Amino acid sequence: MKRNKILLAEPVIESKDTILLIKKVLSANFPNEGKFARSFESKISKLLKVKYVTVTTSGTISIFLALKAVDIKKNDEVIIPNMTFPATANAVKLTGAKPILVDVDRKNLLIDEKDLLKKINKKTKAIVPVHLSGRGSNIKNILKIAKRKKLYVIEDAAEAFMSKNGNKYLGTFGNAGCFSFAPNKIITTGQGGAVVTNNKLIHQKILRLKDQGRVGITTGGEDNYVSIGYNFKFTNLQSALGLPQLKNIKQRVAILKNHYKFYKKHLIQNKKFKLIGFNLKKGECPLWTDIYCSKRNKLFKFLRKQGINCRYFWHPINTCMPYKQSFTNLKNSKILNRKLMWLPSSLNLSKKDLTKICNKINQFNLRNE
Ligand SMILES: Cc1ncc(COP(=O)(O)O)c(C=O)c1O
Repeated sequence: MKRNKILLAEPVIESKDTILLIKKVLSANFPNEGKFARSFESKISKLLKVKYVTVTTSGTISIFLALKAVDIKKNDEVIIPNMTFPATANAVKLTGAKPILVDVDRKNLLIDEKDLLKKINKKTKAIVPVHLSGRGSNIKNILKIAKRKKLYVIEDAAEAFMSKNGNKYLGTFGNAGCFSFAPNKIITTGQGGAVVTNNKLIHQKILRLKDQGRVGITTGGEDNYVSIGYNFKFTNLQSALGLPQLKNIKQRVAILKNHYKFYKKHLIQNKKFKLIGFNLKKGECPLWTDIYCSKRNKLFKFLRKQGINCRYFWHPINTCMPYKQSFTNLKNSKILNRKLMWLPSSLNLSKKDLTKICNKINQFNLRNE
């Protein structure tokens, strides 16, 4: 496909294999969740070396289901980082619990452990660390804190599918981990998500919660509905999109790592312009390369004029209407606010694209020193 714009992210769908699989779904005449979804789950389970995988409608709903499965409810408090996509806060809110905003570390945009400790109290029941852009270097410390304070850890790994910390995949450290397959992720099923866990009870609860509280399927009408539940089923059609993308997932990871390496090698960094680093040696997969830039908006507009599309980082959660609060105790978020953005990180970027991006950014930075 010929493009004249350089994109932040775009779906890369293996059309030949996908069409073959969609034909199979159609000839089985079963577009609902079924054996293709089971096969998608079992492939993910093997890839991530995790016992149970449940596909759902989205990353947001995966976080909601995981929190519900560990019994998070009204009057509970759940800790989340302040610099995240609103989905993290909204998933907590959907359970009836209160999201508690914790500041982030300026180096890696992950939960600041000191602030986390300050915000834990008797009502705190869980922590939802967010593996932002594929970074999860602090997960082991979060687990230690959670163990000491008897808290659940539900990983928001929406942006971290196939990213590692040492010999384990992010999303498989906590009580459960949640992934998103929205179109800007490493693989996409249009929309969709998955919850993974090694805990059988959590897994069984998630299965009931996503399907009206049903246990086992009989003739349909006489099924057993043993708890409250919803309809967050995935479909065979979505699985037909996702399955072929899993076949070359390791290649996708390698491409993203190379993008980041290229940026790191060719971008001139200074106090006003910095890459937020990744630890490739530990196995982190940079879904999107993010930067700090003191003149972010100016750089964004300059690049856009050259056909280079970046993306501003989200507003900190404390500045969003439903979660409004001052920056008191969120001082790093205040410093980072309106200074972060993602550079183009599409799987389709060519060396020529990357060279152009780096040259233009360096040119801008030289002029704005
Ligand atoms: C950090 C984070 N959490 C949660 C989500 C929600 O995922 P979804 O859009 O699939 O609901 C996203 C999606 O982009 C995300 O980036």
